[in-house]
Amino acid sequence: MDDWRDRIESLREGALAELAGAGDAEALERWRVAYLGRRGALTETLRGLSSLPAEQRPAAGQAANEAKRALEAALAAHEAGLRARALAENLERERLDVTLPGRPPVRGRLHPTTIVLREITGFFRSLGYQVVEGPEVELDNYNFEMLNIPANHPARDMWDTLYVRPPDVLLRTHTSPMQARVMEAAVAAAREAGTDPPPIRVVVPGRCYRYEAQDATHEWMFYQVEGLAVDEGITMADLKGTLFAFARHLFGSKVKIRFRCDYFPFVEPGVDMSISTPDLRGGAWLEIMGAGMVHPRVLRMAGYDPDRYTGFAFGLGPERVAMPKYGISDIRTFYANDPRFLEQFTS
Ligand code: FA5
Repeated sequence: MDDWRDRIESLREGALAELAGAGDAEALERWRVAYLGRRGALTETLRGLSSLPAEQRPAAGQAANEAKRALEAALAAHEAGLRARALAENLERERLDVTLPGRPPVRGRLHPTTIVLREITGFFRSLGYQVVEGPEVELDNYNFEMLNIPANHPARDMWDTLYVRPPDVLLRTHTSPMQARVMEAAVAAAREAGTDPPPIRVVVPGRCYRYEAQDATHEWMFYQVEGLAVDEGITMADLKGTLFAFARHLFGSKVKIRFRCDYFPFVEPGVDMSISTPDLRGGAWLEIMGAGMVHPRVLRMAGYDPDRYTGFAFGLGPERVAMPKYGISDIRTFYANDPRFLEQFTS
């Protein structure tokens, strides 16, 4: 038996046996250097063949080259195997269960105040009213003076407010200042055009602020919707018919409405309006707004001739409308920003 054959064969077997035990990339590299490297065992063996007799050299060289190719192939195969195993382990570790139910996206909802405001303004739009908005930071002049509430008038106590810059810049306590602003603007435009002041039909949704002791039906910030109609020949019957239609639209045909005398310096006569339906709180009366015929002095201050024009106005609280509609018992939940409250409403 040729000595060189044994050497090559045992080298090859030893190398393959050792390769089988190489468990990671580092061990593989060590193995490669040890056998196939420039000073590796196989290279040394190849070099040693030069001392063989010339007639044995070609066969021995061929056998050594075969062994080299076999070791290289085994290395590549083992490397691929290791990589596949690492990948499988990774996949197992970072396993993703695609059959798990996903997290549903959070969908926004309309705030109950927004829903009710849209319903209210939508109704008045259908009657031909314009929807306008006004400043929340208001002048004393519009919040009080132009509404027939002069300084030191006891009625100011009903609308205790928050002052931005005392004594004349404040957070409006109601949307009524827009009555004066709308009439004033209409008169100014008419004067410029050389015409009579035009009839007015507007509703004004917006935020109001009061220095208020909060309770289940009173917030320090809340909304109102002001209504104003000014024209020749407007009477209390128009006010009643309009508000009755409004209540029916919002609360259904079984609604009953009640007017009781109330005092607001900017209307005469003044009323508060309550509603009652069998579905709401067992038919109890619920006050939702103040209203009345625009006071002649308010018309005159804004530039309308009260001998020719009359008008009615009202101011209602959308939260007070939303509360019975949605069964909300405490107004303080409206603006507390609790998603559990806000998620409950659909239009
Ligand atoms: C007024 O604010 C008058 N400007 C209403 C008015 C307009 C009368 C036009 C005549 C003509 P009052 O303070 O009552 O009135 O408020 C009107 C409505 O706003 C109330 O019926 C209620 O629905 C709502 N409101 C008043 N104060 C609060 C509050 N603190 N929290 C929540 N809603 C309120």
